[in-house]
Amino acid sequence: MAEYSFALSEEQRLIQESARKFADNEIWPAAPAFDRSGDFPRDLILKAYELGFVNQLIPEALGGAGLSNLDTALVVEELASGCAGITTSCVANDLALIPIVIAGSDEQKKRFVKDIIAARKFASFCLSEPGAGSDVAGLSCKLEKVDGGYKLNGAKQWITNGGVADQYTVFCTMDKELRHKGICCVVVPADAEGVSHGPHEDKLGQRASNTTTVNFDNVFVPESSRIGKEGEGFVIAMETLDITRPLTGVIAVGIARRALECALSYACQRKQFGKAIAEFQGIQFILADAATEIDAARLLTLRAAWMRDNGINNSLQSSMAKRFAADTAMKVTTDAVQVYGGYGYTKDYPVEKLMRDAKLLQIYEGTSQIQRVVIARELVKAAAAKES
Ligand code: CAA
Repeated sequence: MAEYSFALSEEQRLIQESARKFADNEIWPAAPAFDRSGDFPRDLILKAYELGFVNQLIPEALGGAGLSNLDTALVVEELASGCAGITTSCVANDLALIPIVIAGSDEQKKRFVKDIIAARKFASFCLSEPGAGSDVAGLSCKLEKVDGGYKLNGAKQWITNGGVADQYTVFCTMDKELRHKGICCVVVPADAEGVSHGPHEDKLGQRASNTTTVNFDNVFVPESSRIGKEGEGFVIAMETLDITRPLTGVIAVGIARRALECALSYACQRKQFGKAIAEFQGIQFILADAATEIDAARLLTLRAAWMRDNGINNSLQSSMAKRFAADTAMKVTTDAVQVYGGYGYTKDYPVEKLMRDAKLLQIYEGTSQIQRVVIARELVKAAAAKES
């Protein structure tokens, strides 16, 4: 019989505890002001940088925290319980640097990862475009061969940290007709000639995470800045998302956990019909379902992260975890607003922000519908392999 162990090691508990303290003492109190202003919380994120809560998955030899996927997931849940937007901006650096760690040469890892981290700089992952969100293979950003390298032209959209990044990891195509086989991955400094970004998007939620368009107008890219071979960009992007989707899943778990904590505390204090509303079964069932679904979401995300740590392909489990956790966060936060009633619908209480923040989890890093596409394809592939 398979043996399961769910116990965290002493070291994992300590990492989790320090992330929880940072989230409770620094992120949670600061989050409402950043939510209102939409400003980028640079000082707070630089503090997270110093504490090792940015670049967590990047190896220590390159200046990162060198945490496992599982340990990173434990930390990210805690950070997200403080503010999902701030956490998204922290995790964005990992997302942008992982393609270089996966497929870059030693020289590229030094130039684009180690030097960036040593200088406490930010990097952005540029995949989505105005006309290509879910359909990555249909992207249009054009990479043309010229003497000594390439010319890059096109626009990227919904880029996390787009307006504050010092470096962009850009997915672009040498021939759109080739679909995924034409895609390349290149690294472009933000101050290269022809690079610009649009204004910060005025978003519904996760307002502390900086989101902009990024434009490339005849930008020269030396051949030495291409990551992997020509045409390998699509697979590099997908492998990166396999790693980061469980982290998006735990951002959802962090939001949902905070919403349940708020709803529980409110339900115990709020009295109607002469008793605390937590004593009514109608409220109890909401809280019971939320607690159960949050636990299920956490276990799915931790399993996907653990599989990656153990060299097991986790495309299926990453998508299951991300889909279920995102949908759970949306449901639990909406229910938390319901428990608060009219008060929950105002900005005087924290649950409306959690609900707005949760919505993005069903959209970025692949929508809940795209996750279902990946899950179904993996199931069919496995069944077909069994048949043959
Ligand atoms: N690992 C390795 N290889 C993979 C792979 C993976 N996870 N997934 C696909 N591939 C390979 C396939 O095996 C296939 O290889 P062959 O050439 O040998 O056939 C090739 O890549 C093409 O795969 P598909 O046929 O599955 O490609 P597709 O065009 O049908 O698209 C998709 C697949 C899953 C829909 C993909 O386009 C996708 O994930 N879309 C969602 C995009 C997304 O998540 N965007 C997030 C943007 S980043 C963001 O939001 C971050 C932020 O800033 C917050």
